[in-house]
Amino acid sequence: MYISVAIDGPAGSGKSTITKQVASDLKYNYVDTGAMYRALTYKFLKNNLYELDEEKILNILDKTNLEVIFNDGKQLVIIDGNNVTDNIRTNEISKYTSLFATSRAVRNYLIDIQRDLAKDYNVIMDGRDIGSCVLPNANVKIYLTASIEERAKRRYNELSSRDKSISLEELKKIISERDYQDSNRKIAPLIKSADAILVDTTNMTISQVVIRIKDIIAEKIKGN
Ligand code: DC
Repeated sequence: MYISVAIDGPAGSGKSTITKQVASDLKYNYVDTGAMYRALTYKFLKNNLYELDEEKILNILDKTNLEVIFNDGKQLVIIDGNNVTDNIRTNEISKYTSLFATSRAVRNYLIDIQRDLAKDYNVIMDGRDIGSCVLPNANVKIYLTASIEERAKRRYNELSSRDKSISLEELKKIISERDYQDSNRKIAPLIKSADAILVDTTNMTISQVVIRIKDIIAEKIKGN
């Protein structure tokens, strides 16, 4: 039996930074489900699809081959043979991913791939609906969050070295809109499942959060 750890939470809560580190320390595979939604969105935009049209989405998905592979513990997302891992982090992709993540066809397409990844490895998987939908029987479920001010500040610091055109206030607005969209969609919304442990990272350093998560995992696995 393989161990699965589900980490859910809103944008900027620290999920990917923390999850990557914990996965590397514990030698688990880090599965970044957001990257899969982003990769499909990349393809929709490349096909000039900018609106939620289920028929067009299904048509494109029909001709899509999404592969997720692990290279030295790093997840690579390959779409139709092209490695798009480094092309899916733009503001435009973030904005449209939140939209396409509301599509039933998109979610149905990805859920099987995500579940399969947890079948053959110990995984720590991050996203919005992992504990509630993708892996409801995960050994450990954690809900990571932080105040909107803190999350916007983190994104700002992360972006500002690359993109000086966006202000902290604008980022706060963008993140609030994504939070709203992710939490209020009909299918698989961002939600803290009842059995998830809440970790508020607002006033914590990265290493404090990593230690806390590893403690929770150790405690839960010991009890299983
Ligand atoms: O974690 P991220 O910022 O890379 O996620 C990109 C978008 O994908 C985000 O708006 C929510 C969506 N998403 C989702 O709906 N379900 C997931 N399991 C992961 C991401």
